[in-house]
Amino acid sequence: MFQICTQKKTILSVEDIISLIGNKCDGVIGQLTEDWGETLFSALSRAGGKAFSNMAVGYNNVDVNAANKYGVAVGNTPGVLTETTAELAASLSLSAARRIVEADNFMRAGLYDGWLPHLFVGNLLKGQTVGVIGAGRIGSAYARMMVEGFKMNLIYYDLYQATRLEKFVTAYGQFLKANGEQPVTWKRASSMEEVLREADVISLHPILDKTTYHLINKERLAMMKKEAILVNCSRGPVIHEVALVEHLKANPMFRVGLDVFEDEPYMKPGLADMKNAIVVPHIASASKWTREGMATLAALNVLGKIKGYPVWSDTNRVEPFLDEKSRPPAACPSIVNSKSLGLPVSKL
Ligand SMILES: NC(=O)c1ccc[n+]([C@@H]2O[C@H](COP(=O)([O-])OP(=O)(O)OC[C@H]3O[C@@H](n4cnc5c(N)ncnc54)[C@H](O)[C@@H]3O)[C@@H](O)[C@H]2O)c1
Repeated sequence: MFQICTQKKTILSVEDIISLIGNKCDGVIGQLTEDWGETLFSALSRAGGKAFSNMAVGYNNVDVNAANKYGVAVGNTPGVLTETTAELAASLSLSAARRIVEADNFMRAGLYDGWLPHLFVGNLLKGQTVGVIGAGRIGSAYARMMVEGFKMNLIYYDLYQATRLEKFVTAYGQFLKANGEQPVTWKRASSMEEVLREADVISLHPILDKTTYHLINKERLAMMKKEAILVNCSRGPVIHEVALVEHLKANPMFRVGLDVFEDEPYMKPGLADMKNAIVVPHIASASKWTREGMATLAALNVLGKIKGYPVWSDTNRVEPFLDEKSRPPAACPSIVNSKSLGLPVSKL
């Protein structure tokens, strides 16, 4: 039997979830706003539960070690958020570069009294450098959009080499050159600081863990160009938000586009007053296709585990689960702790 939570609250507390789990529960689909740690996994395990899936690709709200301890499989929803999230990062980059929100507010306030050469002058992206920190699925998709769409040069920092992305930029640069245009270039930075110093637009796309908590702090903000644009569609705590507010105050031409915040749903004091900040309420994955895909993958993770299906072998190839015209494969699309739990892998 499926049970859908009809609570009016937006964010459920641990106590709320414990009472919803009750005495018998095979599995749960939850949200990134919930704290899935020792308490909830032990409650789920006591109720006979074997599976939990976040309806998100990131799972920094889940203590995977605690899930392992209670033998609970943890699912996430990779792949279906990539382009949608990258498109929001690109939207925030453009909105910040061309001061769209400030200009819109100005217009609505009835302040426009005629064209002026200096009205809302922003940055031309073409030929500038886009910096990507965390060039995984979303970071690479964003990089491609900015390189291909606006002919920006790329500098990226990641723990791993983004080979496909490098190949794409090389080929696109050759294509431009063959057409008599200035070719685009790429560089893999040896440190994050190199990206901060060189890029004009910087977008953050790493996972949130101990290594990326407060990755952007006072010192690192000071390394960035005075007129740089910073975009965050990863997780709020990747930026030290108090330091960011101070930096925005001191540098009026420095602009940010933020989808995520350190203490969601709240913003740090002063941020809402900053004209050089664009803020949206964690909507990076909010396209109809993506949200349906996330719900489908999360449900199939839990259902697949309950039915005893194996784990899908390639989490970057989840399309077969999304085709509404055919039955999904008899597998769990993405279980992040499958190795720790020794779960069998699908041969499909
Ligand atoms: N705002 C939103 O609604 C939204 C939507 C989707 C994803 N996200 C966030 O974006 C993150 C990335 O998603 P993805 O699908 O691209 O994941 P991914 O695993 O494909 O990419 C993450 C990349 O970050 C890199 N990385 C890890 N630690 C790093 C470090 N210390 N420095 C630099 N790079 C580091 C990894 O090597 C990897 O390439 C998710 O974990 C999630 O938190 C947010």
